[in-house]
Amino acid sequence: MKTYHIAVIGGDGTGPEVVREARKVLDAAAPRFGVKLEYTDYDLGGERYRRTGEAMPDSVVGELRRFPAILLGAIGHPQVKPGILEKGILLRLRFELEQYINLRPVRLYDARFCPLKDKQPEDIDFVVVRENNEGLYTGAGGFVFKGTPHEIAVQESINTRRGVERCLRFAFDYARKRRGGRPWRGLKPEEIAAGQKAQLTLCGKTNVLTYAFDLWERAFHEIGQKDYPDIKRDYAHVDATTMWFVKNPEWFDVIVTDNMFGDIITDLGAMIQGGMGIAAGGNLNPAGTSMFEPIGGSAPKYTGQNVINPLAAICAGAMMMDFLGETAMAAAIEDAVIRTVREKLQSLAAGRMGYGTREVGDLVAAAVA
Ligand code: IPM
Ligand code: MN
Repeated sequence: MKTYHIAVIGGDGTGPEVVREARKVLDAAAPRFGVKLEYTDYDLGGERYRRTGEAMPDSVVGELRRFPAILLGAIGHPQVKPGILEKGILLRLRFELEQYINLRPVRLYDARFCPLKDKQPEDIDFVVVRENNEGLYTGAGGFVFKGTPHEIAVQESINTRRGVERCLRFAFDYARKRRGGRPWRGLKPEEIAAGQKAQLTLCGKTNVLTYAFDLWERAFHEIGQKDYPDIKRDYAHVDATTMWFVKNPEWFDVIVTDNMFGDIITDLGAMIQGGMGIAAGGNLNPAGTSMFEPIGGSAPKYTGQNVINPLAAICAGAMMMDFLGETAMAAAIEDAVIRTVREKLQSLAAGRMGYGTREVGDLVAAAVA
């Protein structure tokens, strides 16, 4: 029996409700795979901030470092000014725990829930590797003459060779192992004949951001040519990427991009896979503490009503087990989610699933047990 110690941050709004269902499913699956999960709850979020005036004590960051993984519900409170909790909890953990990858799979489980016409599950099946520690998110910049007519606001995008390179290497490695070395159908016959097995698309803006994405592009081709000749290198500007997500999502296999572009394109990715109710992500530090979350947010208006879709949190739990090395358990949970979506649900949207939050958790738990 292998025991994993997991830190749990239910957080704000519907976060605690969806995390509860994720735990239910993890606990239902665990015995089948000889696994045991032990959870430690952390009270973080808007309510605690309002009570104590502190978003997150330093001591909590120190404690969280000792866990291999954190399961996070949502951060964001309507009565707390935007930015305080995001910066004080979510971004702080991503940065201080050096979770330099934000991995966001975009997979359509059921064509009924896709807003795009004529797209099937096999057409929407790609992964976005978002750089998670740099870019526009570091807080570098500032004001001059704030509040005057001469005000200047500067927000700088930080791109270090080290930060970009470790992100690119993760993406290349991920592309290599994603389909178990099987050729990807997006490759042309001559590319397959030349030994290529997968495709990695760099999403950037080399025509305008001629410093930041010059670094990205050079590193991409240098590393790819030298160490990943079996991965086809592809490039797309970010604006074109959003167009192709809608028009030709089947063109993508693995996409690597910076923090800001990754944030934006993964919301669109979530929509084409069926909405925020199903979209999960992992903030990864391959050598430290990683954090898994539904990417949808705290949805305050649905709090406590048993209407929010818990599947994104359940999928985040599956990603967590995959990352911890329990790949069979992760696959079984994902399979149970797929069966539940296809056989039971009327919709993936809050309040329209045909079941409540707890009942959806029960269905997946029963399917996996
Ligand atoms: C996300 C969110 C966060 C981000 C916010 C809440 C800071 O939108 O996880 O995508 O911008 O990264
Ligand atoms: Mn976002």
